[in-house]
Amino acid sequence: MTDINKSQHGEWSSRMAFIMAATGSAVGLGNIWKFPYITGENGGGAFVLVYLLCVLLIGIPIMMAEIMLGRRGRKNPVSTLVTLAKEAAADSKWRYLGGAGILAGFLILSYYSVIAGWATAYILKAFTGSFSGVDATATKAIFDDFIASPMRLIFWHTLFLLATMLIVARGIYDGLEKAVRFMIPALFGVMLLLLAYSMTTSGYFQGLKFLFYPDFSKLNGNSILIAMGQAFFSLGIGMGSVMIYGAYLPKNISIANSSIIIAIADTLFALLAGLVIFPLVFSYGLQPNLGAGLIFETLPIAFGNMPGGWLFGLLFFIMLVFAALSSSIALIEPAVTWLIECKNMSREQACIRSGLTVWVLGFGSVFSFNSWSGFKIFGNTFFELIDYLTANLMLPIGSLAIALFAGWVIKQQHSEQELAIPDQQHYKIWQFLIKYVAPAAVFLVFLDVIGVL
Ligand code: TRP
Repeated sequence: MTDINKSQHGEWSSRMAFIMAATGSAVGLGNIWKFPYITGENGGGAFVLVYLLCVLLIGIPIMMAEIMLGRRGRKNPVSTLVTLAKEAAADSKWRYLGGAGILAGFLILSYYSVIAGWATAYILKAFTGSFSGVDATATKAIFDDFIASPMRLIFWHTLFLLATMLIVARGIYDGLEKAVRFMIPALFGVMLLLLAYSMTTSGYFQGLKFLFYPDFSKLNGNSILIAMGQAFFSLGIGMGSVMIYGAYLPKNISIANSSIIIAIADTLFALLAGLVIFPLVFSYGLQPNLGAGLIFETLPIAFGNMPGGWLFGLLFFIMLVFAALSSSIALIEPAVTWLIECKNMSREQACIRSGLTVWVLGFGSVFSFNSWSGFKIFGNTFFELIDYLTANLMLPIGSLAIALFAGWVIKQQHSEQELAIPDQQHYKIWQFLIKYVAPAAVFLVFLDVIGVL
């Protein structure tokens, strides 16, 4: 038996190490690829406002709850929930919440790796000067040609996933953490440069207005659910990723402060991506609702037309791939830790097993953009279905369950002790949000979607 107060996988060396790792998990394709395209599909400002409210009122409290549960349980999500349910004399069925999270991680990573593969391929395109002097028609042609070939997409998906699994298998988080520590600020820097370029384009104010001016007639139950799902996805909560990171967190580090810092960094990246992309959309006569190819069709225009653009393009895609890598390892870590702790596998075996599963699942997403693009389930391609199922059903339900567990099941004394918020008033606010606001919000949004409200 391992001591329940220590994780068998070690601990973060410092608060900064934890914050960088959790920010690495949070900042990724969700901010730079997904946020802009779903904002484009869901009408802009009002959607962004709902997203921001969800981050603030539901996302941060749930992130705190999830990290707290992880730190108290100190194991993979399934065992953590078993331990904590036992401590609270609650039903051990709570472990299924951990299991569902592991499944969600597999499903998300299966398409995440395909898209990260696109970003990897674009490093090469930037390097070879494919974007020089391009306009919107040219970037679309480049992108359409690229995704038309399943073999090419499989190649890049394989390469990216292999890199992820090698890092996880060898447990070389230290190396990655050092890389991320540098890459995330550098990515921010390149995005600021891109912003400077966007600000010179004719569509800047139109882009700004699209992003921030709320037109509530564009909202409906489904878009509210998508905004909420995006808040969970982008923060990386609801499936055990940050629970695992919490498991490695030393006792003396403040969960509340860390969560707020991570959420601010995450939100800044998303807004910055929107500020860069929508001006380009309007300046070059594109439509905001281009879908999953949005950043791949817009950003190369900036790289192709700004001074030194090929170099910034190269740096941008390299750093985006690193940001995606640090998120991917967070998505698979719960599964790997579970296989090691509960199924007695070695780290390598666990990685091979879970890597292969994700790899094969990823083919479904690869084909969604070419061979199977006409094959629709409830009007969605395989990729869209997996995305909807995970971001808009599994993460909200997982987050709801985490909120209920942290707010109602475990003893108040334990959450108070674990969070150790110096100001009692602040603890009360968290408790109110986690007990009432977060569950009610998720529940009401679901009722709205199924048409009860
Ligand atoms: N947050 C990451 C991104 O925005 C992806 C991610 C990492 C994630 N861990 C997660 C998404 C857990 C959902 C759940 O790219």
